[in-house]
Amino acid sequence: MPRCVIASWVRTAAAVAGAVVALGLAGCERKLTEQGGYRGTGQVQVKSPTTVAALHELNRIPPPEEAADLESPPSTEVFTNLKVLQDLSATEVSRLMQALSTWVSPVEGCDFCHNPDVLESDEKYPKLVARRMLEMTRRINTEWKSHVGETGVTCWTCHRGQAVPSGDWFNSNPPGAGLGALGNRDGQNAPGANVVGSALPGDPLSLFLVTDQASVRIQGNTALRSGGHDSIKAAERTYSLMLYMSKSLGVNCTYCHSTRALASWQESTPQRSKAWYGIRMVRELNTDYLIPLEPMLPAHRMGPLGDGPKVGCETCHKGTFKPLNGVSPLTDYMALSGIGKVPPGVPTPAEPEPEAPPGPQARK
Ligand code: HEC
Ligand code: HEC
Ligand code: HEC
Ligand code: HEC
Repeated sequence: MPRCVIASWVRTAAAVAGAVVALGLAGCERKLTEQGGYRGTGQVQVKSPTTVAALHELNRIPPPEEAADLESPPSTEVFTNLKVLQDLSATEVSRLMQALSTWVSPVEGCDFCHNPDVLESDEKYPKLVARRMLEMTRRINTEWKSHVGETGVTCWTCHRGQAVPSGDWFNSNPPGAGLGALGNRDGQNAPGANVVGSALPGDPLSLFLVTDQASVRIQGNTALRSGGHDSIKAAERTYSLMLYMSKSLGVNCTYCHSTRALASWQESTPQRSKAWYGIRMVRELNTDYLIPLEPMLPAHRMGPLGDGPKVGCETCHKGTFKPLNGVSPLTDYMALSGIGKVPPGVPTPAEPEPEAPPGPQARK
């Protein structure tokens, strides 16, 4: 075979290989890494610029309505059926109503919650749900500063223009659902989105984010087993919850833990304490607000096992470690901080002393 033919084959092969490599690399991107802990602890976060850019759009806050006139009469002099917003001025109530439409029902507007001819009527169920949501939002912003700090939340933090927020969840894998003689599968090997497709128990949420019956903590404090009855199954449930929390915040385990000693609070980041309060806050929101609302909801809002939508970490965080990238949506709507219109001369209540972080020995 003439040499020039072989050379041309070689050239073609090299060109094809080059093109394949170039195509392959086009799909790669340079990841961003950040060191979060002390040197040598490997507490690194790896981020993809594409994901960061996509989250940027999701975390936009709509421009606030124009500030209300504080001199307007108290809302109770103008409106007849206020049960929550009695501490605001009439114009602040109207301004907040505009915002509620933008946050929860931008398409239907006021009519989503109101009969437009009788605004004081409670005939539409979304209005009743919204009234309870107003109370819930104020509760988060006043009583759960241990988690939301001064940043706080508004309806937008969860809803982002949708009637039912993304990142809500339903019960699945009812306890005891077994395989007969094969025993109780405990929701394992049924890869669910909440456990990122792993074979871990698929529903850590109904176990940990409604009640405190199951303990998250499974590691012993002694070299040999001493009295505890924590099983491998319990450990797998904890790992499922941890996967869900990591996914909801868009981080990995080392954002909160030093993986050398997962249980040690001394070696964990401050974010882990925040997360500890977050777990307790979510339990309260579900027990005191979302579950009691279930009887009001129409059948098409219910999940496969007949329960209503519930709040998880993802409902606020949506893949970002600080919802809305840490920008406070509350500063323009202090009415939702529970302070409302404070009459001049009345001091705002003093901040409660922050609770001590959870002790390493506390079980729940
Ligand atoms: C997501 C639900 C929701 C949307 C959207 C909404 N509202 Fe409301 N509205 C409420 C709730 C809840 C109350 C009662 C608040 C309370 O009990 O303190 C209320 C109360 C009112 C009242 C007081 C009625 C009275 O006399 O008691 C008026 C007026 C009002 N809304 C007007 C509007 C207007 C105008 C819009 C559209 C720009 C709007 N609302 C959009 C939920 C909503
Ligand atoms: C912590 C997250 C969170 C916040 C904050 C929040 N909501 Fe909700 N909201 C939910 C979840 C989850 C549901 C679905 C469960 C339900 O309908 O009971 C919901 C449902 C609703 C519904 C019923 C929608 C339907 O069509 O069934 C209305 C109306 C509503 N919210 C209004 C509000 C308003 C107004 C605010 C702000 C004052 C608010 N929400 C704040 C999580 C939140
Ligand atoms: C956002 C912070 C956060 C992230 C991310 C996180 N954890 Fe946790 N982890 C916690 C908190 C808070 C607790 C304690 C919860 C409690 O006591 O209620 C905990 C507890 C644990 C425990 C039990 C420790 C004990 O005392 O027995 C293990 C094991 C664990 N995490 C593993 C992981 C793994 C593996 C990952 C990654 C897949 C992870 N965690 C991601 C916050 C986090
Ligand atoms: C009601 C909305 C809401 C829910 C639900 C929620 N968070 Fe948060 N979280 C926030 C807000 C707002 C902040 C920002 C607080 C600040 O700026 O100080 C935050 C901050 C955090 C931080 C600190 C981030 C940092 O870098 O400082 C962690 C960790 C965290 N949340 C974990 C969780 C976990 C885990 C859950 C579920 C168990 C959860 N959150 C549920 C609203 C929420």
